[in-house]
Amino acid sequence: MKAHYRQIQPNPDALSLLRTLLASRGEFVSGSLLASQLRMSRPAIHAKLGKLREQGFTLEAVRNKGYCLIKEPEVLHPDLLNYYAETVGNDFEFLYFPVIDSTNSEADRQLAGGRKAPFVVVSSCQTQGRGRMGRVWYSASAENLYLTIAFQPNSPPQQLQHFTLWAGIHICRSLQGLVPNASLKIKWPNDLHCGDRKFAGMLTEAKLDADSIRSILFGIGLNVNSNPSKYPGEIRTSATSLYAIRGQEFSLNQVAARVASATNAAYQTCFLQKTSEDITTAWTPLNALSGKTVTAVLNGNEFTGVACGIDPSGALLLTSEEGAVQRVRAGDVTLKK
Ligand code: BTN
Repeated sequence: MKAHYRQIQPNPDALSLLRTLLASRGEFVSGSLLASQLRMSRPAIHAKLGKLREQGFTLEAVRNKGYCLIKEPEVLHPDLLNYYAETVGNDFEFLYFPVIDSTNSEADRQLAGGRKAPFVVVSSCQTQGRGRMGRVWYSASAENLYLTIAFQPNSPPQQLQHFTLWAGIHICRSLQGLVPNASLKIKWPNDLHCGDRKFAGMLTEAKLDADSIRSILFGIGLNVNSNPSKYPGEIRTSATSLYAIRGQEFSLNQVAARVASATNAAYQTCFLQKTSEDITTAWTPLNALSGKTVTAVLNGNEFTGVACGIDPSGALLLTSEEGAVQRVRAGDVTLKK
């Protein structure tokens, strides 16, 4: 059976209205200016502003002064997503679904239906959110982000191996700006950590032809405003959120735009070679495992060693007590307590 989920369509008039109101946030904009900008009557503008109020915007209206935007909703909103994407110089279209099975699955359906990448699928709740290695990704909290960016690079498959690592590097750097007093790191290969707690996981799924990549679905689950004490089961003690790290909430729309922009930077770095940065050097300051003793499973055998970085192919390097260096190309590693 074909899955069908409700997409909240963006509203171009609301987006134009928000561009003006957000650009002069905290200041009054006259009703006649809004009416002439949108080529609408003043009663029509009044009705549109009423709709924004229903959606959680706080707007002040004062006779002879106009309208002033006081507060915007922090929850996901299709027009705010596209507005913030514009402000970070990203013209990817954002498709917002209140509920979805998995944003990666929806991005795949969109590609199959003919939508051209790049685009972003975002949701407030996933019913079948998936993690790496067949694990389930906790996706019930609308205070977190579940987001997939689809690309169609038409590049040789070898370049794929670096993509998630570059995405981790760019996203980690970008989110660091939101939590300046904390230290965000990457646990190889695709978990974002603060201290010993994970706050985001990345899942890259790709379709390959013999000599080129047909599509990449880069999914990220990012704990933003949720309270870890409410997480279920084991993740209550192993996961955290940006809110818990910083002690304040964030606009999910702004964070989503930031993540999409950072992922696009990773795409440019990886597939369009728009960097002079070397991956091993970029990884070093962000390496959550540096100097830690970890265990990896290699060809069915456990190997324990001290993590010392990655090699140019992106493999994790582990040094055993005897000094032998093992390269871990894929899989997961566990930290020795
Ligand atoms: C992991 O740490 O195992 C990776 C988790 C990836 C979760 C994200 S949430 C958005 C996207 N859709 C999914 O079903 N999974 C990814």
